[in-house]
Amino acid sequence: MAAVSSRLPVFPWDKLEPFKATAAAHADGIVDLSVGTPVDPVPEIVRQALVDAADSPGYPTVWGTPALRDALTGWAARRLGAVDPQHTNVLPVVGSKELVAWLPTQLGLGAGDAVAYPRLAYPTYEVGARLCGATPVVYDDPTELDPRGLRLLWLNSPSNPTGRVLGREELARTVAWAREHGVLLFSDECYLELGWEAEPVSVLHPDVCGGSYEGVVAVHSLSKRSNLAGYRAAFLVGDAGVLGELLTIRKHGGMMTPAPVQAATVAALGDDVHVAGQRARYAARRAALRTALESDGFRIEHSEASLYLWATRDEPCWDTVARLAERGILVAPGDFYGEAGARFVRVAFTATDERVEAAVKRLG
Ligand SMILES: Cc1ncc(COP(=O)(O)O)c(C=O)c1O
Repeated sequence: MAAVSSRLPVFPWDKLEPFKATAAAHADGIVDLSVGTPVDPVPEIVRQALVDAADSPGYPTVWGTPALRDALTGWAARRLGAVDPQHTNVLPVVGSKELVAWLPTQLGLGAGDAVAYPRLAYPTYEVGARLCGATPVVYDDPTELDPRGLRLLWLNSPSNPTGRVLGREELARTVAWAREHGVLLFSDECYLELGWEAEPVSVLHPDVCGGSYEGVVAVHSLSKRSNLAGYRAAFLVGDAGVLGELLTIRKHGGMMTPAPVQAATVAALGDDVHVAGQRARYAARRAALRTALESDGFRIEHSEASLYLWATRDEPCWDTVARLAERGILVAPGDFYGEAGARFVRVAFTATDERVEAAVKRLG
Protein backbone atom coordinates (compact mmCIF):
# COMPACT_ATOMS: atom_id res chain seq x y z
CA MET A 1 0.00 0.00 0.00
CA ALA A 2 1.46 3.38 -1.04
CA ALA A 3 1.95 5.63 2.00
CA VAL A 4 -0.44 8.60 1.82
CA SER A 5 2.26 10.68 3.48
CA SER A 6 4.41 10.25 0.37
CA ARG A 7 2.00 12.60 -1.45
CA LEU A 8 2.67 15.37 1.03
CA PRO A 9 5.38 18.01 1.02
CA VAL A 10 8.27 17.54 3.46
CA PHE A 11 7.34 19.15 6.78
CA PRO A 12 9.51 22.25 6.43
CA TRP A 13 9.87 23.23 10.09
CA ASP A 14 12.59 20.62 10.61
CA LYS A 15 14.83 22.76 8.39
CA LEU A 16 14.57 25.57 10.92
CA GLU A 17 15.81 23.45 13.85
CA PRO A 18 19.55 24.31 13.55
CA PHE A 19 18.67 28.03 13.54
CA LYS A 20 16.45 27.52 16.55
CA ALA A 21 19.40 25.95 18.36
CA THR A 22 21.59 28.94 17.44
CA ALA A 23 18.95 31.41 18.64
CA ALA A 24 18.40 29.44 21.85
CA ALA A 25 22.09 29.77 22.66
CA HIS A 26 21.75 33.57 23.03
CA ALA A 27 22.75 34.68 26.53
CA ASP A 28 19.36 36.33 27.10
CA GLY A 29 17.38 33.46 25.53
CA ILE A 30 15.54 32.97 22.28
CA VAL A 31 12.88 35.34 20.93
CA ASP A 32 10.75 33.01 18.87
CA LEU A 33 8.83 34.97 16.23
CA SER A 34 8.59 32.02 13.84
CA VAL A 35 5.09 30.76 14.62
CA GLY A 36 1.77 32.56 14.98
CA THR A 37 0.70 30.87 18.18
CA PRO A 38 -1.00 33.06 20.83
CA VAL A 39 0.89 33.57 24.10
CA ASP A 40 -1.50 35.77 26.07
CA PRO A 41 -4.07 34.38 28.52
CA VAL A 42 -7.38 32.87 27.51
CA PRO A 43 -10.01 35.52 28.43
CA GLU A 44 -11.51 34.94 31.86
CA ILE A 45 -15.13 34.78 30.63
CA VAL A 46 -14.17 32.10 28.13
CA ARG A 47 -12.37 30.02 30.76
CA GLN A 48 -15.37 30.34 33.04
CA ALA A 49 -17.73 29.12 30.32
CA LEU A 50 -15.45 26.14 29.68
CA VAL A 51 -15.36 25.26 33.37
CA ASP A 52 -19.13 25.71 33.75
CA ALA A 53 -19.62 23.16 30.95
CA ALA A 54 -17.04 20.72 32.31
CA ASP A 55 -19.71 18.22 33.37
CA SER A 56 -20.47 17.03 29.82
CA PRO A 57 -20.74 13.26 29.93
CA GLY A 58 -22.76 12.80 26.73
CA TYR A 59 -21.67 13.04 23.11
CA PRO A 60 -21.76 16.52 21.63
CA THR A 61 -23.30 17.02 18.19
CA VAL A 62 -21.32 17.91 15.08
CA TRP A 63 -23.70 20.77 14.24
CA GLY A 64 -23.36 22.11 17.79
CA THR A 65 -25.91 23.16 20.39
CA PRO A 66 -28.70 25.53 19.32
CA ALA A 67 -27.00 28.11 21.56
CA LEU A 68 -23.77 27.71 19.60
CA ARG A 69 -25.56 28.02 16.26
CA ASP A 70 -27.31 31.17 17.51
CA ALA A 71 -23.92 32.57 18.53
CA LEU A 72 -22.43 31.77 15.11
CA THR A 73 -25.30 33.28 13.12
CA GLY A 74 -25.47 36.29 15.45
CA TRP A 75 -21.75 36.98 15.14
CA ALA A 76 -21.76 36.50 11.36
CA ALA A 77 -24.57 39.03 10.97
CA ARG A 78 -23.10 41.52 13.42
CA ARG A 79 -19.42 41.30 12.58
CA LEU A 80 -19.34 40.18 8.93
CA GLY A 81 -22.52 41.87 7.73
CA ALA A 82 -23.87 38.51 6.54
CA VAL A 83 -27.53 38.82 5.53
CA ASP A 84 -30.01 36.95 7.72
CA PRO A 85 -27.89 33.80 8.32
CA GLN A 86 -29.83 30.71 9.44
CA HIS A 87 -28.64 27.67 11.36
CA THR A 88 -28.29 25.87 8.01
CA ASN A 89 -25.68 28.49 7.07
CA VAL A 90 -23.28 27.60 9.92
CA LEU A 91 -21.16 24.59 10.88
CA PRO A 92 -18.63 24.29 13.73
CA VAL A 93 -15.28 22.65 12.93
CA VAL A 94 -12.53 21.39 15.23
CA GLY A 95 -10.14 24.28 14.56
CA SER A 96 -9.85 25.44 10.98
CA LYS A 97 -6.68 23.53 10.10
CA GLU A 98 -8.44 20.16 10.01
CA LEU A 99 -11.11 21.66 7.77
CA VAL A 100 -8.54 23.14 5.37
CA ALA A 101 -6.68 19.83 5.20
CA TRP A 102 -9.72 17.56 4.80
CA LEU A 103 -12.22 19.73 2.92
CA PRO A 104 -11.25 18.53 -0.58
CA THR A 105 -11.58 14.92 0.59
CA GLN A 106 -14.94 15.62 2.26
CA LEU A 107 -16.14 17.31 -0.94
CA GLY A 108 -15.33 14.11 -2.82
CA LEU A 109 -12.55 15.67 -4.91
CA GLY A 110 -9.79 13.52 -6.33
CA ALA A 111 -7.65 12.83 -9.38
CA GLY A 112 -8.55 15.13 -12.26
CA ASP A 113 -9.90 17.88 -9.99
CA ALA A 114 -7.95 21.05 -9.22
CA VAL A 115 -7.78 23.05 -5.99
CA ALA A 116 -6.41 26.61 -6.27
CA TYR A 117 -4.88 28.87 -3.62
CA PRO A 118 -2.63 31.95 -3.55
CA ARG A 119 0.96 31.66 -4.80
CA LEU A 120 2.15 32.62 -1.33
CA ALA A 121 -0.01 30.75 1.17
CA TYR A 122 -0.58 28.82 4.34
CA PRO A 123 0.79 25.37 3.38
CA THR A 124 -2.31 23.39 4.39
CA TYR A 125 -4.28 24.39 1.24
CA GLU A 126 -1.77 22.37 -0.78
CA VAL A 127 -1.84 19.54 1.77
CA GLY A 128 -5.63 19.33 1.40
CA ALA A 129 -5.39 18.98 -2.37
CA ARG A 130 -2.67 16.35 -2.14
CA LEU A 131 -4.42 14.27 0.54
CA CYS A 132 -7.28 13.50 -1.86
CA GLY A 133 -5.14 13.20 -4.99
CA ALA A 134 -6.38 16.45 -6.55
CA THR A 135 -4.04 18.81 -8.40
CA PRO A 136 -2.83 21.85 -6.43
CA VAL A 137 -2.73 25.05 -8.50
CA VAL A 138 -1.39 28.44 -7.40
CA TYR A 139 -2.63 31.80 -8.65
CA ASP A 140 -1.73 35.48 -8.66
CA ASP A 141 -5.19 36.58 -9.78
CA PRO A 142 -7.83 33.87 -9.31
CA THR A 143 -9.93 35.22 -12.19
CA GLU A 144 -7.10 34.32 -14.57
CA LEU A 145 -7.23 30.63 -13.60
CA ASP A 146 -8.35 28.03 -16.12
CA PRO A 147 -11.75 27.06 -14.68
CA ARG A 148 -11.80 23.63 -16.37
CA GLY A 149 -11.48 20.97 -13.67
CA LEU A 150 -11.19 23.64 -10.99
CA ARG A 151 -13.53 22.58 -8.19
CA LEU A 152 -12.37 24.55 -5.15
CA LEU A 153 -10.90 28.04 -4.93
CA TRP A 154 -9.31 29.28 -1.70
CA LEU A 155 -9.07 32.95 -0.81
CA ASN A 156 -7.17 34.08 2.28
CA SER A 157 -7.66 37.69 3.32
CA PRO A 158 -5.95 38.92 5.45
CA SER A 159 -3.21 36.67 4.15
CA ASN A 160 -0.83 34.42 5.95
CA PRO A 161 2.09 35.05 5.35
CA THR A 162 1.95 38.49 3.69
CA GLY A 163 -0.74 40.26 5.74
CA ARG A 164 -2.28 41.49 2.49
CA VAL A 165 -5.96 42.42 2.51
CA LEU A 166 -8.19 41.99 -0.55
CA GLY A 167 -10.49 44.93 -1.17
CA ARG A 168 -14.24 44.78 -1.69
CA GLU A 169 -14.03 45.12 -5.47
CA GLU A 170 -11.40 42.44 -5.85
CA LEU A 171 -13.43 40.08 -3.66
CA ALA A 172 -16.66 40.84 -5.53
CA ARG A 173 -14.96 40.26 -8.89
CA THR A 174 -13.66 36.88 -7.66
CA VAL A 175 -17.04 35.79 -6.26
CA ALA A 176 -18.70 36.70 -9.58
CA TRP A 177 -16.05 34.79 -11.52
CA ALA A 178 -16.36 31.69 -9.30
CA ARG A 179 -20.15 31.69 -9.61
CA GLU A 180 -19.99 32.16 -13.37
CA HIS A 181 -17.73 29.12 -13.70
CA GLY A 182 -19.40 26.95 -11.05
CA VAL A 183 -16.30 26.92 -8.84
CA LEU A 184 -16.89 26.59 -5.10
CA LEU A 185 -15.23 29.45 -3.23
CA PHE A 186 -13.92 29.07 0.34
CA SER A 187 -12.59 32.22 1.99
CA ASP A 188 -10.25 31.70 4.95
CA GLU A 189 -10.83 34.78 7.11
CA CYS A 190 -9.18 33.71 10.37
CA TYR A 191 -7.31 37.05 10.66
CA LEU A 192 -10.35 39.23 9.92
CA GLU A 193 -10.32 40.89 13.35
CA LEU A 194 -6.66 41.85 12.97
CA GLY A 195 -6.65 44.71 10.48
CA TRP A 196 -4.12 47.51 11.14
CA GLU A 197 -3.87 49.77 8.12
CA ALA A 198 -6.84 48.18 6.37
CA GLU A 199 -10.35 47.12 7.32
CA PRO A 200 -10.70 43.49 6.17
CA VAL A 201 -14.05 42.67 4.56
CA SER A 202 -15.69 39.24 4.58
CA VAL A 203 -16.69 37.49 1.42
CA LEU A 204 -20.16 37.33 3.03
CA HIS A 205 -20.56 41.10 3.10
CA PRO A 206 -23.43 42.03 0.76
CA ASP A 207 -21.12 44.37 -1.21
CA VAL A 208 -19.10 41.27 -2.08
CA CYS A 209 -21.59 38.39 -2.38
CA GLY A 210 -24.74 40.39 -3.19
CA GLY A 211 -26.41 39.12 -0.02
CA SER A 212 -26.57 35.54 -1.34
CA TYR A 213 -24.65 32.57 0.08
CA GLU A 214 -24.63 30.72 -3.24
CA GLY A 215 -21.31 28.97 -3.83
CA VAL A 216 -19.53 30.85 -1.06
CA VAL A 217 -18.30 29.78 2.39
CA ALA A 218 -16.27 31.82 4.91
CA VAL A 219 -13.94 30.05 7.37
CA HIS A 220 -13.50 31.62 10.81
CA SER A 221 -11.41 30.65 13.80
CA LEU A 222 -11.22 31.75 17.42
CA SER A 223 -7.56 30.75 17.68
CA LYS A 224 -6.15 34.20 16.92
CA ARG A 225 -9.08 36.47 17.80
CA SER A 226 -9.61 35.04 21.29
CA ASN A 227 -6.30 33.26 22.11
CA LEU A 228 -8.07 29.92 21.75
CA ALA A 229 -5.65 27.96 19.57
CA GLY A 230 -5.48 25.37 22.36
CA TYR A 231 -9.26 24.90 22.40
CA ARG A 232 -9.68 24.07 18.67
CA ALA A 233 -12.66 26.30 17.96
CA ALA A 234 -13.57 27.38 14.44
CA PHE A 235 -16.62 27.45 12.16
CA LEU A 236 -17.96 27.89 8.65
CA VAL A 237 -20.61 30.32 7.45
CA GLY A 238 -22.11 30.14 3.99
CA ASP A 239 -23.87 28.06 1.34
CA ALA A 240 -26.42 25.81 3.09
CA GLY A 241 -26.17 23.09 0.44
CA VAL A 242 -22.42 22.78 0.85
CA LEU A 243 -22.57 22.92 4.66
CA GLY A 244 -25.40 20.35 4.76
CA GLU A 245 -23.28 17.91 2.79
CA LEU A 246 -20.26 18.55 5.03
CA LEU A 247 -22.45 18.11 8.12
CA THR A 248 -23.60 14.67 6.92
CA ILE A 249 -20.07 13.53 6.19
CA ARG A 250 -18.64 14.96 9.38
CA LYS A 251 -21.40 13.27 11.43
CA HIS A 252 -20.38 9.93 9.99
CA GLY A 253 -16.75 10.81 10.64
CA GLY A 254 -17.36 11.83 14.27
CA MET A 255 -15.86 15.31 13.82
CA MET A 256 -17.39 16.87 16.92
CA THR A 257 -16.31 19.99 18.76
CA PRO A 258 -16.15 19.03 22.49
CA ALA A 259 -19.17 20.34 24.43
CA PRO A 260 -17.12 22.55 26.82
CA VAL A 261 -15.43 24.14 23.81
CA GLN A 262 -18.83 24.80 22.24
CA ALA A 263 -19.87 26.61 25.41
CA ALA A 264 -16.58 28.54 25.48
CA THR A 265 -17.15 29.58 21.85
CA VAL A 266 -20.56 31.03 22.70
CA ALA A 267 -18.96 33.14 25.45
CA ALA A 268 -16.06 34.24 23.23
CA LEU A 269 -18.27 35.34 20.33
CA GLY A 270 -20.53 37.27 22.64
CA ASP A 271 -17.73 39.49 23.89
CA ASP A 272 -15.80 42.14 21.95
CA VAL A 273 -13.97 43.60 24.94
CA HIS A 274 -11.28 40.93 25.05
CA VAL A 275 -10.85 41.22 21.27
CA ALA A 276 -10.15 44.95 21.59
CA GLY A 277 -7.69 44.32 24.46
CA GLN A 278 -5.82 41.68 22.50
CA ARG A 279 -5.71 43.90 19.42
CA ALA A 280 -4.13 46.67 21.48
CA ARG A 281 -1.40 44.31 22.70
CA TYR A 282 -0.63 43.17 19.18
CA ALA A 283 -0.71 46.72 17.81
CA ALA A 284 1.98 47.82 20.28
CA ARG A 285 4.18 44.79 19.56
CA ARG A 286 3.74 45.22 15.84
CA ALA A 287 4.68 48.91 15.93
CA ALA A 288 7.80 48.25 18.03
CA LEU A 289 9.00 45.39 15.82
CA ARG A 290 8.24 47.24 12.61
CA THR A 291 10.30 50.26 13.64
CA ALA A 292 13.17 48.08 14.84
CA LEU A 293 13.22 45.98 11.66
CA GLU A 294 13.12 49.05 9.42
CA SER A 295 15.98 50.67 11.29
CA ASP A 296 17.91 47.42 10.82
CA GLY A 297 17.60 47.68 7.03
CA PHE A 298 14.43 45.66 6.46
CA ARG A 299 11.69 46.65 4.07
CA ILE A 300 8.14 45.63 5.07
CA GLU A 301 5.69 44.72 2.31
CA HIS A 302 1.90 44.40 2.63
CA SER A 303 1.39 43.47 6.34
CA GLU A 304 -1.60 45.81 6.66
CA ALA A 305 -3.37 43.08 8.66
CA SER A 306 -2.80 39.67 10.35
CA LEU A 307 -0.24 38.71 12.99
CA TYR A 308 2.81 38.98 10.76
CA LEU A 309 5.29 41.39 9.25
CA TRP A 310 6.41 40.29 5.78
CA ALA A 311 9.95 41.57 5.73
CA THR A 312 12.92 41.53 3.38
CA ARG A 313 16.53 42.67 3.30
CA ASP A 314 16.60 41.87 -0.43
CA GLU A 315 18.69 38.77 0.19
CA PRO A 316 17.91 35.03 0.27
CA CYS A 317 15.54 34.31 3.16
CA TRP A 318 17.82 31.72 4.75
CA ASP A 319 20.61 34.32 5.00
CA THR A 320 18.19 36.56 6.89
CA VAL A 321 17.08 33.66 9.11
CA ALA A 322 20.73 32.87 9.93
CA ARG A 323 21.59 36.51 10.59
CA LEU A 324 18.67 36.95 13.01
CA ALA A 325 19.32 33.59 14.69
CA GLU A 326 22.80 34.85 15.58
CA ARG A 327 21.03 37.59 17.53
CA GLY A 328 18.75 35.09 19.22
CA ILE A 329 15.69 35.88 17.08
CA LEU A 330 13.91 33.11 15.20
CA VAL A 331 11.71 33.96 12.19
CA ALA A 332 10.09 31.87 9.45
CA PRO A 333 11.76 31.79 6.02
CA GLY A 334 9.44 33.04 3.27
CA ASP A 335 9.97 29.97 1.10
CA PHE A 336 7.93 27.91 3.59
CA TYR A 337 4.94 29.62 1.97
CA GLY A 338 5.97 29.26 -1.67
CA GLU A 339 9.01 29.93 -3.85
CA ALA A 340 7.84 33.51 -4.37
CA GLY A 341 8.75 34.13 -0.74
CA ALA A 342 12.39 33.15 -1.18
CA ARG A 343 13.69 36.65 -0.35
CA PHE A 344 11.32 37.38 2.55
CA VAL A 345 10.92 36.31 6.15
CA ARG A 346 7.70 36.19 8.15
CA VAL A 347 7.97 37.83 11.55
CA ALA A 348 5.13 36.95 13.92
CA PHE A 349 4.28 39.36 16.72
CA THR A 350 2.82 36.63 18.90
CA ALA A 351 5.45 36.94 21.63
CA THR A 352 5.16 38.46 25.07
CA ASP A 353 5.88 42.17 25.58
CA GLU A 354 9.07 41.19 27.39
CA ARG A 355 10.31 39.04 24.48
CA VAL A 356 9.34 41.65 21.88
CA GLU A 357 11.27 44.26 23.86
CA ALA A 358 14.29 41.92 23.89
CA ALA A 359 14.07 41.54 20.09
CA VAL A 360 13.80 45.30 19.62
CA LYS A 361 16.94 45.85 21.73
CA ARG A 362 18.86 43.25 19.73
CA LEU A 363 17.83 44.77 16.43
CA GLY A 364 18.67 48.31 17.53
C1 LIG B 1 -4.40 31.16 7.05
C2 LIG B 1 -4.64 30.20 8.16
N1 LIG B 1 -5.70 29.40 8.11
C3 LIG B 1 -5.96 28.52 9.09
C4 LIG B 1 -5.14 28.41 10.20
C5 LIG B 1 -5.47 27.39 11.25
O1 LIG B 1 -5.92 27.93 12.42
P1 LIG B 1 -6.72 27.06 13.49
O2 LIG B 1 -6.59 25.62 13.08
O3 LIG B 1 -6.06 27.32 14.78
O4 LIG B 1 -8.14 27.52 13.43
C6 LIG B 1 -4.02 29.22 10.29
C7 LIG B 1 -3.12 29.10 11.46
O5 LIG B 1 -2.09 29.70 11.57
C8 LIG B 1 -3.75 30.14 9.25
O6 LIG B 1 -2.70 30.96 9.29
